[in-house]
Amino acid sequence: MSGATQKQVMLSAVQPSSGLTIGNYIGALRNWVKFQRDYECWFFAVNLHAITVRQDPKELREQTYRAVATYIAAGIDPEHATLFVQSQVPQHAELAWLLNCYCYMGELGRMTQFKDKSQKAGENIPVGLFTYPVLMAADILLYDTELVPVGADQKQHIELTRDLAIRMNNAYGEDLFKVPQPMIPPVGARIMSLQDPTSKMSKSDPDPNASVFLSDSDDVIRKKIKRAVTDSGSEITDDDSKPGVKNLLSIQSAITGTSIAELVRQYAGKQYGHLKVDTAEIVVQAVSPLRAEAERLYAERAHLEKILARGAEKAREKAGRTLKRAYERIGLL
Ligand code: AMP
Ligand code: TRP
Repeated sequence: MSGATQKQVMLSAVQPSSGLTIGNYIGALRNWVKFQRDYECWFFAVNLHAITVRQDPKELREQTYRAVATYIAAGIDPEHATLFVQSQVPQHAELAWLLNCYCYMGELGRMTQFKDKSQKAGENIPVGLFTYPVLMAADILLYDTELVPVGADQKQHIELTRDLAIRMNNAYGEDLFKVPQPMIPPVGARIMSLQDPTSKMSKSDPDPNASVFLSDSDDVIRKKIKRAVTDSGSEITDDDSKPGVKNLLSIQSAITGTSIAELVRQYAGKQYGHLKVDTAEIVVQAVSPLRAEAERLYAERAHLEKILARGAEKAREKAGRTLKRAYERIGLL
C-alpha cells in the first residue's frame, strides 16, 4: 500500500510477562485501536524485555501468543497494523548494543522503573533491568517512529529515547533517527492497584486482587472491584485524599468517556457501594467480549503464527534499513 508510507509512524508494545490488565487496556491498547487508521502502525510483544525478570519458558511462550491474540481482540486489524514479536526481529537487540555505547550510567540510574524493579530484585540485580530502557529506545528508533501511545509510567523512557536520538543525530547527522513523542491519554494514564490505590496497577503484582486481568471472568471482575480498597468517609469526590475512589472514577471515566466531574455530580448523595457496583458492570461490559474473542484467537495457533511471521518479515525489512544506516554512519563494516 503506497499511501501507508506517507502516514506518520505510530509504535507501541506490551511485555507478555503475564496476562494484560485493564491498566494496559485503558492506558495503552485502547489508544492503539483508536488511532490505527491514522498512522502507519507497528505493535508488538516485547518478550526480550520480559526476561529482565525470571519467566517460566512455557508460560512466556503462551503469554506471548495471548498478548497478540488480545491485541487483535481489542480491535487491532492485522491487515492494517504490523503485529510481531520482538525476539523475531534481531535488529532490536543489535541496535540496543549500539545505543548502549552512547547512553550514560547516570541516565539509566535515574529511571524510576529501574529503581522500583531493582529494589524488588534483591541482591543480584540483572544488568538487563538496568539497560531495559536502551532496548526500548532501539524498539522505537528502528521504525522512524513519531508517536508512542503509552501510559504515564513510560514517559521517562521516551524522554530518554529522545535524548539518545538527539545525541546520535548531533554526532552522525540529523537524519539518522526520528525523534519520537509520547502520546499519553488525558484520563486513565495511570490506573492504580485495587488493593493499594497509591501504587500502579501492575500485571506482576503478587496480589491477584490488585489487578483486573483481561482474562478474568465476569464474576471475578465483580468480586475484585467490590473488594477494592476505598477510603474513609462516604462521599464520592474527586479528591487526592481519596485515591481509591478517584481510581474507580477514573476507570469509569476512561471507559465511558463521561468526565470525572460529571460522574461526581451523578454520585452526589450516593455511597461507595453504588460506585463499585457501577464500575464493576462497566468493566465487565468492556472486558467480556474482548475476553471471549481473545480466547478464540488464542486457540487458532496456526492463524496467529501466520500473522506473526508476516509481521516479523515486514519488521525485519524496515528495521534492517535503519540499522544499516546506523552502522554506516558509525563506521562499522
Ligand atoms: P507493561 O505492562 O509494563 O508492559 O505496560 C504496557 C503498556 O501499558 C505501557 O504503555 C504502560 O504505560 C501501560 N500501562 C501499564 N500499566 C498501566 C496502568 N496501571 N495504567 C495505565 N497504563 C498502564
Ligand atoms: N517498557 C514498556 C512497558 O513496560 C514496554 C515497551 C518496550 C514499549 N518497548 C516499547 C512501549 C516501545 C512502547 C514502545 O510498558
